Amino acid sequence: MKKKIAITKGDGIGPEVVNEGIKILKTISNYTDIELEFEEAPVGGNIWKKTGESLPEKSFEIIKKSDAILFGAIGMPDLPQGVAESAILRLRQELDLYVNLRPIKLYDQLKDRCPLKEEFIGDGIDIIIVRENTEGLYANIGGFLKDEVAVNSMIYTKQGCERIIKYAYEFAKIHKHTKITSVDKANVLKPSQMWRNIFKDIGEQYSNIEQENYYIDAFCQWLIRTPYNFQTVVTGNLFGDIISDEGAFIVGSLGMASSGNIHPGQVSLYEPIHGSAPDIAGQNIANPIGTILSVKLMMEESFNMQDIGKEINKAVEISLNKGRTIDIKNKELKTLSTQEMGDLISNILKNQLKV
Ligand code: IPM
Ligand code: MN
Repeated sequence: MKKKIAITKGDGIGPEVVNEGIKILKTISNYTDIELEFEEAPVGGNIWKKTGESLPEKSFEIIKKSDAILFGAIGMPDLPQGVAESAILRLRQELDLYVNLRPIKLYDQLKDRCPLKEEFIGDGIDIIIVRENTEGLYANIGGFLKDEVAVNSMIYTKQGCERIIKYAYEFAKIHKHTKITSVDKANVLKPSQMWRNIFKDIGEQYSNIEQENYYIDAFCQWLIRTPYNFQTVVTGNLFGDIISDEGAFIVGSLGMASSGNIHPGQVSLYEPIHGSAPDIAGQNIANPIGTILSVKLMMEESFNMQDIGKEINKAVEISLNKGRTIDIKNKELKTLSTQEMGDLISNILKNQLKV
């Protein structure tokens, strides 16, 4: 099986972490049936400075022709708000990547980095956030009136709610989850009221999966009080943005958090959720695991290679017993650079795939 991967390194620590993701992809290409080809497609702030466009047409063409995209991070402090970010937002809209899958998993090895007390960790934290990724306040409906009025409208369509909620129920079913949680603000917002009704209606086809509703404000509290209680969590665009950062923090580091921007059956984009982190860019200290776990999601969701996904997960687990980047450091283990962490994981993976 031959697949084309578009590489969009982006800004800040993006290039550093993506280089480690490529190491993993090359290992997979060398040791399994899947043959991977790479093509760079620059997007974000750096390319904007050169060309005046954060998503140049040439890059977009490469992306559209690929089977999947490995994306680093975008954003630069010296650019006007939103200039670099518009690249990822356009890609989500134009490729109709309506699912944003964001795992929140606490590795046993990282319990020492979890800011929660043992009793709040319970049996462990293993949540999947299914964030709606094209509508809501991100639909880009709004503007300014002179400099005195600014508006963005929260738009949800029935079709948009149905497809993401169905995806979440199916995800829960496939992964044998016994419960699904919907997060909204139905006590105030009209789109949330429609969302909640659709969640209930579609739920009738999934009577084996327990269904519950939370308001976003309460959910933010319970996510740190009883995180072990959640399995699949489905929510709108902005709420999903916020709770996925909260979730990433409780599993030890934002550097561990991966994501997939997915349109099932079409070209999809995989990226760590940490952003460009300009304060640590160029120092070879960023954690590449968020990117490596995004490669895992790519294998599972775009290429249906669940076995490879499991092997990557195993390699990450083993690596956490041997060495750590500084954000997850442990005094008994060696502190590793970005490149060393990537080498460690890809060597472990190589040994696993060889047999
Ligand atoms: C994310 C990011 C983006 C978002 C930004 C960079 C536009 O925060 O992927 O979570 O708001 O969705
Ligand atoms: Mn975010």
